[in-house]
Amino acid sequence: MYYIGIDLGTSAVKLLLMDSDGKICNVVSKEYPLYFPHPGWSEQKPEDWYEQSMIGLKELTEGFDKSKIAGISFGGQMHGLVILDKDDNVIRPAILWNDGRTTEECDYLNNVIGKDKLSEYTANISFTGFTAPKVLWVKNKEPENFAKIEKMMLPKDYLAYKLTGVHCTDVSDASGMLLFDVKNRTWSKEMCDICSVKPEWMAKIYESYEKVGTLLPAVAAELGFPETTIVAAGAGDNAAAAVGTGTVGDGRCNISLGTSGTIFISSKNFGVDSNNALHSFAHADGSYHLMGCMLSAASCNKWWMDEIIGTKDYGAEQKDIIALGENHVFFLPYLMGERSPLNDPFARGTFTGLTMDSTRADMTQAVLEGVAFALRDSFEVAKSLGIKIERTKICGGGAKSPLWKKMIANILNVKVDVIESEEGPAMGGAMLAAVAAGEYESVEAIAEKFVKVIDTVEPEAELVEKYEARYQQFKQIYPALKPVFEIIK
Ligand code: XUL
Repeated sequence: MYYIGIDLGTSAVKLLLMDSDGKICNVVSKEYPLYFPHPGWSEQKPEDWYEQSMIGLKELTEGFDKSKIAGISFGGQMHGLVILDKDDNVIRPAILWNDGRTTEECDYLNNVIGKDKLSEYTANISFTGFTAPKVLWVKNKEPENFAKIEKMMLPKDYLAYKLTGVHCTDVSDASGMLLFDVKNRTWSKEMCDICSVKPEWMAKIYESYEKVGTLLPAVAAELGFPETTIVAAGAGDNAAAAVGTGTVGDGRCNISLGTSGTIFISSKNFGVDSNNALHSFAHADGSYHLMGCMLSAASCNKWWMDEIIGTKDYGAEQKDIIALGENHVFFLPYLMGERSPLNDPFARGTFTGLTMDSTRADMTQAVLEGVAFALRDSFEVAKSLGIKIERTKICGGGAKSPLWKKMIANILNVKVDVIESEEGPAMGGAMLAAVAAGEYESVEAIAEKFVKVIDTVEPEAELVEKYEARYQQFKQIYPALKPVFEIIK
């Protein structure tokens, strides 16, 4: 049988076709526009997601025996607000996870309602990208749109709704709305009341590996798939990536270097970060996880390469970088503000330490290192909670770069296990579909069978020491510039 994983990302939707034994048979990617209507705002059209996913599904399965397609599931960009009216039309473009417009609403939630209450109700505090402050923003700034809301959903759940007609979500993605009681895996009535969210707007909650329905007959006919094809709830992209990299069970770590950069730590037990820097979310394997999320990771390198240097040959730019741990140029990767651990929508990207002899390669190196240093900031928070991480998996577009993996291994001083495929969320989505279809008894069982480590990047003592000194310098830059970011916002 075949299973399809749909990774609904920010730059593109990636679709993956997998057989029952975990062999990847095909991968297709379809892009769609990202809109920045104001500095710090970030939007996409849900209709584009669906259109490109349908085109991608057709291309993905062309030439394969479609009668064997048994299941579909998702990893989706998290936190995005999709609102539908009474006729199921999208009311306004989706406001995405990396959108920073809700500073006032976050201040209200964190300071007037209070962080303690938010944490008690949802296990988290408010960050500008989370869904609840966006609902308040629509209420405050676009009352005419707010009045039309009949359904509210997350990005991947819009796809599930279009494919099955079922208004559903899963526990991992719901965790990022700040409307969800993570510990008890149910909607928080208190938070919904605080945000004027009506219960009837909200989706039915599933575990990520549960079946929510089958394809609508018209959709099945358009795709040429069996009407019996099941659709499983799926997960937020980070939880799906964790499944795809075998980061399930207790105390495992995955780093994702995608548009965002995350450190994901799986846990059998529910726990909250008392610093409020790491998110406490439900995991797709039925348990929980902690996660630090930086808003711009591989996207910093993409910006630097595509927009500034003007090249598509990322490998060629990296091949002259050899003096690791010796760079005097530093880069703050806060191109969309920063979430973990700074929680500062007004933080901005900067180069610091340039001199007349600084080269383009130094600056490229600084961009890659800046992302790794910023990941280390979240890693330090995890360590301060007593979590010991000696090794991590890695996935996402940035994981293709051997240089970046080496930097991460040495800046974080961890072993980086490289797995066969870095298609984390799409692979995780396909695996969740296979569990929902009953091919495997649990998410842990399928991960155990499918995920193979093919290489390990080991930290090197001398380099770790050099990078430690650089990290201590990097740490001084943001606090020094914070007052400037306040002025130039
Ligand atoms: C996680 C987060 C990002 C998006 C990216 O909290 O906001 O990783 O899910 O798609």
